[in-house]
Amino acid sequence: MNRNDAPKTPATFHVKSFGCQMNVYDGERMAEMLGTQGMTVAADGSEADLVILNTCHIREKAVDKVYSDIGRLTREDGTRPMIAVAGCVAQAEGSEIQRRARSVDIVVGPQAYHRLPDLIDKAGRGEDAVDTDMPLASKFGALPARTKQARPTAFLTIMEGCDKFCTYCVVPYTRGAEISRSWSAIIDEAKALVDGGVREITLLGQNVNAWTGEDDKGRKQGMDGLARELARIPDLKRIRYTTSHPNDMSEGLIAAHGDEPKLMPFLHLPVQSGNNRILKAMNRSHSAESYLRIIERVREMRPDIALSGDFIVGFPGETDAEFEDTLKIVEQARYAQCYSFKYSPRPGTPAADMDHQIPAAVMDDRLARLQALINRHQVEFNSATVGRTTDILLERKGRYPGQLIGKSPWLQSVVVTAPELSIGDMVEVDIISAGPNSLAGEISRRKAA
Ligand code: SAH
Ligand code: SF4
Ligand code: F3S
Repeated sequence: MNRNDAPKTPATFHVKSFGCQMNVYDGERMAEMLGTQGMTVAADGSEADLVILNTCHIREKAVDKVYSDIGRLTREDGTRPMIAVAGCVAQAEGSEIQRRARSVDIVVGPQAYHRLPDLIDKAGRGEDAVDTDMPLASKFGALPARTKQARPTAFLTIMEGCDKFCTYCVVPYTRGAEISRSWSAIIDEAKALVDGGVREITLLGQNVNAWTGEDDKGRKQGMDGLARELARIPDLKRIRYTTSHPNDMSEGLIAAHGDEPKLMPFLHLPVQSGNNRILKAMNRSHSAESYLRIIERVREMRPDIALSGDFIVGFPGETDAEFEDTLKIVEQARYAQCYSFKYSPRPGTPAADMDHQIPAAVMDDRLARLQALINRHQVEFNSATVGRTTDILLERKGRYPGQLIGKSPWLQSVVVTAPELSIGDMVEVDIISAGPNSLAGEISRRKAA
């Protein structure tokens, strides 16, 4: 494929985000920026003049998916869109991507996407358009203000990057060092989102609870202080945050779960393994016991909190007995939901060079056992909410006419039939039944009176 076959001055675009919620956020900000440049979202993604693949490098599978997607962008008649690879694969592989996939016109890293308009111009002129800089001045200052949102929920990145260097993980290399955005930039963005109709904000960071900054009076603050300040925005009804690291779970943040009603009773706190030797080899710098103590304290403050976690099975050298410790910590922690993954060796990370990589069949078996346990707990957690009356924030239409779907405080999807209500409404519902992945609710008669 010749590079000249792509449109030179794209008018329409399509952003496809892979990976974590921060990529979703970045994708939205790219779209808003291109919108202010006069470009419009393509009605049909396959007809877009410019396709931005906002990629994830976390596991090998995620990367393979990107390359197969690039291949599929060439249409049957031989034409293709201008193709930009953004996100963590762009950062990790840089111009290497263009050697592997010649149809890629633009490569732009997660800290450089504010320069996308310039890169589009360059690519249109047939010039080199690769930018994986991590400039000192943050991209956030260069991006346009938030516009009106289509949904009542929004993500807001408050910090980015990671200094933890878990031995299996690429994120410290693809996202760079931990950097917190300023108090005022975050408050301003939150207010703009709420003015644009948002009622629930999820604060994002690779280690979101490591956020630190100074408030408008020059006092040092952590994420708890920030959440309390955001809670003062009257029309903002709910605050969530993800992902947290156990070592950054401050007493202040734990306390905020006890007395800040807008802070939702949900905590995603990955532990990765239940075995201390593996945790040490992973460089997690917490133990199974210290992790359990943290969640115990959070539960003292907020007994109904729903916990979520991430797990890796088959880390190099993991024995059967060490894997059993992971099942044990799952039993002890009682998660409402979890993500679990087979270990994937990533180029440039210390664990990729460790001895005793685990065979795929062993990993498959461990993952199946872990997921069976996690699913059982998820069903139990969902069943335990049947009979409760709770608020839900209606987020989207359901499958059938009159149906709307919202989230409970514990992040469960709740389906209600309520033709008289609209997306963005907060309603009180009685939970009447539960499945593994969603609940059914009825508008509460208590409130209707
Ligand atoms: N910053 C977050 C998570 C970032 S990545 C944290 O530390 O909690 C999301 C999840 O992907 C991780 O929690 C981990 O469970 C998983 N993960 C990261 N690297 C991986 C790898 N090399 N193989 C398999 N899973 C991995
Ligand atoms: Fe990766 Fe560990 Fe950082 Fe999470 S804390 S992003 S798993 S290095
Ligand atoms: Fe993936 Fe990068 Fe997020 S590697 S998980 S998109 S930080």
